[in-house]
Amino acid sequence: MKKLAVCFVCLGNICRSPMAEGVMLELVRRAGLSERITVDSAGTGAWHVGEPPDPRAVAAAAQRRYDLRSLRARQVADTDFARFDLILAMDQQNLTDLQRRCPSGERHKLSLLMRFATQHQVAVVADPYSGGAAGFERTLDYCEDACAGVLDTLKQRLESA
Ligand code: 4NP
Repeated sequence: MKKLAVCFVCLGNICRSPMAEGVMLELVRRAGLSERITVDSAGTGAWHVGEPPDPRAVAAAAQRRYDLRSLRARQVADTDFARFDLILAMDQQNLTDLQRRCPSGERHKLSLLMRFATQHQVAVVADPYSGGAAGFERTLDYCEDACAGVLDTLKQRLESA
């Protein structure tokens, strides 16, 4: 049976991409597709490797019943480009960093996450790290919107396989 894998990428892998991972894991679980869709996240930077998500991200996500507590930050690895079917960047800098590292045959897998959104007309998920709680709520709003679109795309790919 065909399986697919998606990886969300931000800078630190402690705020935006773990929130996207938590949202996506829940959507996949609710769709009954946990056996067929693998969800992961990573950061382009190495500062926070091994750390759990930012407590503000964990708290905001918990309010909406997403559990981020078991996640640990890791840095993007060269092997990720072959391993994942979709690699989704939070902002333009993340995407540029990925494009530089990605083998040319795998570049079609790279995109901005918000290209999959249908409710919010924004290009990127801005970094909430240095701001207040509202930034984390906005990040979740964007992730919920875009991850629903990602799920639709992955479902279509599973069905057409
Ligand atoms: P993230 O946020 O990329 O959404 O995980 C950040 C977290 C930490 C740092 C930057 C962004 N930092 O510079 O430590």
